[in-house]
Amino acid sequence: MVHQVQEALGQPLFIYLNSMVILGKEPVIVDTGSPANRTQWLEDVFSIVEPKDVRWIFISHEDVDHTGNLDEALSACPNAQLVCNWAMVERHTNCLDFPLDRCRWVADGETFDVGDRTLHALRPPVFDSPTTRGLFDPLTGVYWGVDTFATPLPDPHAGIADLDPEFWADGLALFALGAVSPWLSMVDTKKYGTFVDRTQSLDIATIASCHSPVIEGPYIDQAFNRVRELPSLDPLVLPDQSVLDQIIAATSQPLV
Ligand SMILES: [Fe+2]
Ligand SMILES: [Fe+2]
Repeated sequence: MVHQVQEALGQPLFIYLNSMVILGKEPVIVDTGSPANRTQWLEDVFSIVEPKDVRWIFISHEDVDHTGNLDEALSACPNAQLVCNWAMVERHTNCLDFPLDRCRWVADGETFDVGDRTLHALRPPVFDSPTTRGLFDPLTGVYWGVDTFATPLPDPHAGIADLDPEFWADGLALFALGAVSPWLSMVDTKKYGTFVDRTQSLDIATIASCHSPVIEGPYIDQAFNRVRELPSLDPLVLPDQSVLDQIIAATSQPLV
C-alpha cells in the first residue's frame, strides 16, 4: 500500500489517499496517487518495485487523486502497459496524452493476466466516475475498492479497529452520499443489493481502497452492510456558505 494523508477542511479529521502495488511475476501499480504528493509517491512506489520491472499500471478511473502521477509513472516505467478503458480515454484525454499503443482497455467484468494470476476488474458499489473498476486479486484475496468505503478518520494513523463503530458508519455515509455517489438516493434498492452482492460474494480477505484504512476480518461484512443500506438513509446536510464563512474567519490573518 502506498499511503498519503490529507487534512479535512475545517475539521480535525484526516483522509487517506492510498494507491497500491501488486508484487508478482508482472508487478502492477494500482492507481497513481495525487500531484500534491508527487515526490513522496514516486519515492514510495519505487522503493517497492524497480521502475523497469513494472509491467502494468492499472487506473481505476480518471479522478486526479487516482491519476495524479500517471504521466510520471508511464515515463518512469518503459515496460508497463496502461490498463484503462475507452471512456477513460474520452474523458481524460484533455489531461493526458494517452499512449494508445501501450494501452490495454479493460472494462467492468473483464480480466487481464499478469503472469502468475488473473486480475478481475469489477466496479465497486459506490463510485464517482462511470469509468470506475475495482480490482480483485484471487491469489491474495485483496480487492481494490477505489472510492467505496471512503471515510474520514480522527487521527492520521487510524486503522478500522481504532474507530468508534458509530463514527465509522457516519463517516462511510457522509463520504458515500455527500462526496462520491449522491445518486444512491435514487437507486432501486433491490437492484443495488444485487450489485453489492457481486462484489461481496468474492472471496475477499482484505479490502484496500483509496480513502480508508485496510478492512479485514469481521470488518469486511460490516463495511458491506453499511454500503448496502446507503440508498435508504436520509439525505445529508452538507457544509454550506455559512460553514465556509466560519472557516475563513477562523483561519484569516489580521491585516498588518
Ligand atoms: Fe473518484
Ligand atoms: Fe478518490
